[in-house]
Amino acid sequence: MYVTRGLFITFEGVDGAGKSTQLDFAVNYLRDRKIDLVQTREPGGTILSEQLRDMVLKSTTPLDSDTEVLLMFAARKEHITRVIRPALESGAIVVCDRFTDATFAYQGGGSGVDPSRIETLEHWVQGTLQPDLTLFFDLPVDVAQKRLSHREKDRFESEALEFHERVRQAYLDRAKKEPARIKVIDSSRSKSQIKVLVQKELDRICN
Ligand code: TMP
Repeated sequence: MYVTRGLFITFEGVDGAGKSTQLDFAVNYLRDRKIDLVQTREPGGTILSEQLRDMVLKSTTPLDSDTEVLLMFAARKEHITRVIRPALESGAIVVCDRFTDATFAYQGGGSGVDPSRIETLEHWVQGTLQPDLTLFFDLPVDVAQKRLSHREKDRFESEALEFHERVRQAYLDRAKKEPARIKVIDSSRSKSQIKVLVQKELDRICN
C-alpha cells in the first residue's frame, strides 16, 4: 500500500493552451501561503529523466511509439523514486508539469498506442500513486497552434493538427471518466479569469 501525506497536483494541457503561465502562477500563489512545495516536470525532474526528455523531445529520427512509452515510464520511475515520493512523504505539495495523463493523451491518443499497454506500465511504475488533482488546460487545437506558431517547436508540437486533435480528445475522455480528479479549464478565457479558476481549485484541495 502506498501511503502519502502530501498532495500531488499535476498540470496538463494541449500544447499552446497557456499551461506553463498558470503553473507559474499556482506555484507563486502556494509559496506565498508558505506552503512547502516541490515544482517539477515530466518527462524530467532528475538528471537521468531530463536526459531521457532530451532524447525523446529533441530526437530528429523517428521513434517507435512503444519505445516512446517505455522511455516516458523509465523517466517517470526515476522521478517518482527520487523526487515525487520523498517529497510527498515529507508532507510537501508536489506540483508537476505533466504526468501519466500525458502518456495516455500523446502516446495513446496521438500515436495510437493501445491504452492497456500504458495501464500495465502505470500499475508497475506507480502502484497506487495518482495525482490528487489534475488541471487540464483546454483550447481548440487550431487556436492553440496559432499561439505556438512564433516559437521553436519540440517533436510533439511539430506534429500535424490531427495528432493534436486526438491528444485533446484523449484528455477530454479521461476528464469525463475522472471528473473528481481532472478539472477542465477553458483556456479561451482571459489570463486573469483563468487565474481565478486555478486559485479556486487550489484553495479547495489545500484546505
Ligand atoms: P511541455 O513541458 O512543454 O509540456 O513539453 C513536454 C512534451 O512532452 C509535450 O509535448 C507532451 C510530451 N509528453 C508526452 O508525449 N508523453 C508524456 O508522458 C509526457 C509527460 C509528455
